[in-house]
Amino acid sequence: MKDILSELEDRRNAARLGGGQRRIDAQHARGKLTARERIELLLDEDSFEEFDMFVAHRCTDFGMEEQRPSGDGVVTGWGTINGRMVYVFSQDFTVFGGSLSETHAQKICKIMDMAVQNGAPVIGINDSGGARIQEGVASLAGYAEVFQRNIMASGVVPQISVIMGPCAGGAVYSPAMTDFIFMVKDTSYMFVTGPDVVKTVTNEVVTAEELGGASTHTKKSSVADGAFENDVEALAEVRRLVDFLPLNNREKAPVRPFFDDPSRIEDSLDTIIPDNPNTPYDMKELIGKVADEGDFYEIQEDFAGNIITGFIRLEGQTVGVVANQPMVLAGCLDIDSSRKAARFVRFCDCFEIPILTLVDVPGFLPGTSQEYGGVIKHGAKLLFAYGEATVPKVTVITRKAYGGAYDVMASKHLRGDFNYAWPTAEIAVMGAKGATEIIHRADLGDAEKIAAHTKDYEDRFANPFVAAEKGFIDEVIQPKSTRRRVARAFASLRNKSLQNPWKKHDNIPL
Ligand code: HXC
Repeated sequence: MKDILSELEDRRNAARLGGGQRRIDAQHARGKLTARERIELLLDEDSFEEFDMFVAHRCTDFGMEEQRPSGDGVVTGWGTINGRMVYVFSQDFTVFGGSLSETHAQKICKIMDMAVQNGAPVIGINDSGGARIQEGVASLAGYAEVFQRNIMASGVVPQISVIMGPCAGGAVYSPAMTDFIFMVKDTSYMFVTGPDVVKTVTNEVVTAEELGGASTHTKKSSVADGAFENDVEALAEVRRLVDFLPLNNREKAPVRPFFDDPSRIEDSLDTIIPDNPNTPYDMKELIGKVADEGDFYEIQEDFAGNIITGFIRLEGQTVGVVANQPMVLAGCLDIDSSRKAARFVRFCDCFEIPILTLVDVPGFLPGTSQEYGGVIKHGAKLLFAYGEATVPKVTVITRKAYGGAYDVMASKHLRGDFNYAWPTAEIAVMGAKGATEIIHRADLGDAEKIAAHTKDYEDRFANPFVAAEKGFIDEVIQPKSTRRRVARAFASLRNKSLQNPWKKHDNIPL
């Protein structure tokens, strides 16, 4: 019996060594942690339960039968984050470069199936040379099995991808179908075709970092939702995100203890709106002042800064925030911001997370590049996402809500539950100057008349009361009491029940 026990321990120790000490040292020398070290940092201490530690590949080509390391390049299992269950896979670059074989894929599929059945998120740590070259089509089949599970799990359990090394070729499409992608600066990259193929086909000379590094994907492509300095920071931030999310689409997000008075009055908000309507202010200040303890988890911070998306808590409950940012492009909606916010709204709706919308929007960004880029279809994504969402929706218009953008930003007409406005709100088809120049074109040569018309338009529409008279705004509130009003509104909506008509699925303008 003793011998058998020590054999088990020997086998476990061999499996834990992955591709051996030399390759572990090489991984560390690059500033990267190993697959197991990452899992240890991600999960609560001693909570990890491993599956399939002894699984080995079945390939017999290219002399592969001589090398059959236990685990086959991926560590899989489950554990807890602050006591809540998650499933995890972590690719081991020290074993065949973390490449995906048939059995490696089967290990990932096993925990994904269990995650869906048991209702817990899947966190995938990617560090892989892609398809196991020696296995050919068996490896491609393995990828497709993972893809199919990503699709089926979408909207059922949260899926989070952390890119901590290479992720190239078709392999990128598994993270691409998950809810959030995080990258590590300087040590991770994602691309469909690498720099060498790019050079051959298009003659462009580009480094892996420029083509698919963390900066590229958080600032240019918006493929990734956040970039962190190193593995340790990235994993700590994933833990923080998981704390905001429900485990699955049948449960509510966890309620955290809070020590911040929900009725807290913020006098400074009464003066946050500048006298000049064209002067910007920082919408993040308002978000911080509304949130419990000022805690805001921002998603896609480095992309489309004209809209802000992320999570806060109100009375300990998770709320998704979408807010126009007057400091970037005057807070206009455009292609990028519409796409960014639409995806965020849909995530919240999938997982029953209520949405707070803070509005200061002068309209859609004009111009040929926007029209040629399809701003009509992209803007419609956000409109569609808000309109189909059945979660509690509370909207506060702080200043401008002009034109179609007024409708889009969770207006009453898109089933907003509480639509508040500050007294500084201006709700109109367009700004007073533009409106005057169109409806009083005949007076354009007469500055005095134009000034009088503009003033008249401002008096009529540069306020929230016309909309309030029609019931499109439920109440004009004092800025300083925003946290209290919004917290009470969400509290009253905790048992909201609203269902869309049955359909197979909708046809959102992709
Ligand atoms: C088998 C692989 C491998 C792979 C790396 N290795 N990639 N083994 N299949 N795809 C092995 C190497 O042989 C080496 O083994 C170890 O992993 C580390 O690789 P190095 O090249 O020494 O490391 P590095 O210099 O850091 O380069 C990493 C790399 C490079 C950039 C990822 O290895 C690389 O280009 N690999 C091939 C990538 C690729 O073309 N994959 C297929 C993509 S197509 P030893 O024994 O020396 O440690 C694809 C299609 C998916 O993925 C389709 C889904 C639909």
